[in-house]
Amino acid sequence: MSQQFAPRPLIIAPSILASDFSKLGEEVRAVDAAGADWIHLDVMDGHFVPNISYGPDVIKAIRPHSKKIFDAHLMISPADPYLEAFAKAGCDHITVHAEAGPHLHRSLQAIRALGKKAGVSLNPATPASVIEYVIDMIDLVLVMSVNPGFGGQAFIPSALGKIQDLRAMTAGRPIDIEVDGGVGADNSGQLAAAGANAFVAGSAVFKGGSEEAYKANISAIRNTAALSRGEAV
Ligand code: DX5
Ligand code: ZN
Repeated sequence: MSQQFAPRPLIIAPSILASDFSKLGEEVRAVDAAGADWIHLDVMDGHFVPNISYGPDVIKAIRPHSKKIFDAHLMISPADPYLEAFAKAGCDHITVHAEAGPHLHRSLQAIRALGKKAGVSLNPATPASVIEYVIDMIDLVLVMSVNPGFGGQAFIPSALGKIQDLRAMTAGRPIDIEVDGGVGADNSGQLAAAGANAFVAGSAVFKGGSEEAYKANISAIRNTAALSRGEAV
């Protein structure tokens, strides 16, 4: 009899990049109350990606507003000199890009040494195989389904095949497969069927601008994914 593994939990991770920055604490409380599982934090340096967002001091300031997992996505190069600052700011997951430096293994060692969960993010052109020799050192893989740097971009469909490959490569391991960029209720079912279990969404969650809207938006993404996993909604 073949061994069955429990599926990884279904996670909705709103990206506060799409929130109203003039009231960040309030926005974090609102998505928390609206049913977010993780709070996704997009850190951009204007060098690795062509945009600048926010850094560890801002994360530290919003940390008291939610007890949910803080899921940091570092779109910065180099990342290593800043890992400790993000750990101290209260990030629970720290994800670095495979393309951000020559020493991915060292970055993952450093994140684990700080007592945090370690993630690797892959740009759309980066193959799934980059995780092959670091698979024992990662807690999550973040598949970019847009070119990182901006919210509100169109989903790139080749992410689906990459997610399928990663799900096969990580079978039986406690590794979350997270997808980020252009994700919404229109594609969360397909993405869940491909093997993603964690869904980052910025514009699709924050549209409407109220806690009530966030709740409906999060539920729509979650329910479509859950149905596709054969789970009750
Ligand atoms: C893009 C970021 C994403 C972005 C997603 O560089 O990593 O997390 O905020 O935004 P949407 O959901 O609007 O595509
Ligand atoms: Zn992100």
